[in-house]
Amino acid sequence: MTIGNINLNLGNAIKIFGWVANRRSSGKIRFIQLRDGTGVIQCVVMADRVTPEVFELADHIPYESSVFVTGQVQKDPRSSLGFEIAVDNIEVISEALPYPISNKDHGVAFLMDHRHLWLRSSRQTALMKIRSVLTRSARAFFDELGFVSIEAPILTPTACEGTTSLFEVAYFDRSAYLTQSGQLYGEAAAMALGKIYVYGPTFRAEKSKTRRHLTEFWMIEPEMAFWELPEAIDLAEGLICRIVWDVLNECSAQLKTLERDITKLELIKAPFPRVTYTEAIDILKQKGVDIEWGADLGADEESALSEAFDRPVFVTHYPSDIKAFYMKRDSSDSRLALAVDLLAPEGYGEIIGGGQREESLEALEQRIEKHGLPKEPLEWYLDLRRYGSVPHAGFGMGIERALAWITGIHHVRETIAFPRLLDRLSP
Ligand code: 4AD
Ligand code: MG
Repeated sequence: MTIGNINLNLGNAIKIFGWVANRRSSGKIRFIQLRDGTGVIQCVVMADRVTPEVFELADHIPYESSVFVTGQVQKDPRSSLGFEIAVDNIEVISEALPYPISNKDHGVAFLMDHRHLWLRSSRQTALMKIRSVLTRSARAFFDELGFVSIEAPILTPTACEGTTSLFEVAYFDRSAYLTQSGQLYGEAAAMALGKIYVYGPTFRAEKSKTRRHLTEFWMIEPEMAFWELPEAIDLAEGLICRIVWDVLNECSAQLKTLERDITKLELIKAPFPRVTYTEAIDILKQKGVDIEWGADLGADEESALSEAFDRPVFVTHYPSDIKAFYMKRDSSDSRLALAVDLLAPEGYGEIIGGGQREESLEALEQRIEKHGLPKEPLEWYLDLRRYGSVPHAGFGMGIERALAWITGIHHVRETIAFPRLLDRLSP
């Protein structure tokens, strides 16, 4: 029996395990808000229905004590759930010490230090439930299109997204690096299986203290043999529409808890606008932003650009100098890479990055050298171009950034149960 399916038990005698989220007393009646992870229900403790000990207990039991409640389910039109429990008995499983988190305004540092307890709050559980729906939805999107799910290694011999953000770890008598992206392995798997996706944790030793940067985050990365940039863009558009749709349909209660303006999400329908990097620079200049062609788009530029649209916007054809070594050059303008970023609305910035991959062995060797990457650990990757190279494309969506945007949460630190940030490694 859980609070989540209490509606099936109107009038029934029930037994529920849970924690005391809140309580109050008024005369001959006491109320306990009981939570069990699936919901919160009001338990009504009346002096004429329980023993004097239980009546007394309901007045002083510490918050977050774990209890076993028996009672009867009744209608309660005033509660958001529509039901309450008329209590027959309360058994204490474990009495809690004075709980450190209360209704008063705790600072972020305090809450982050108590993340293991903060997770129990209604906003945080709402976020975790939406995250769970979002990741299931994203995986289902690819599964239903016939993509094969592949796990890429976490311990890797080389960089994927540039050498400046590598976490180095001792690997016996050598060094290894925590993966920045499953992409290179995804490409190998696409040559074996056609359409694949990698879903897993990725790591960046980025010294960025912003609301968008974690040092450990999760990415879902599809990779498709014989696909080119426009097809990958269509796929990314389909993915975003699917996850927004599923979250809207399955998480209305949680979005309400978070006070998300869902009219903004209801606008998220294909087609999304597509602009080239060069057009994006023009739009920014018209808005008075101080930026020159060739510069990367930072958080401020991305926000300014996305404000021009009410849906996510694809930015394509970036200067190849500001993109990763594996990006294919545009055959009609060799300064450009066949890259794509998807910028979320409402100032959330980039949530997807990807593009078409360089399939020529010679071109890729040149780029590895130009980027100053060691060639030997990438020989296996070059083999993909030696043995039946084909055009291929893919992208990666950061789960935390996508979730921050969809839920309207300011900072990515609340979008993962135990965030890893520049200045935070615990709990
Ligand atoms: O744009 P990025 O660096 O692209 C790649 O890693 C490609 N190899 C993906 C691919 O083509 N298979 O990262 C992709 C996404 C970003 O758009 C962002 O959503 C997320 O990963 N991301 C981060 N999320 C949180 N914290 C960080 N430090 C992030 N860095 C990237
Ligand atoms: Mg990127």
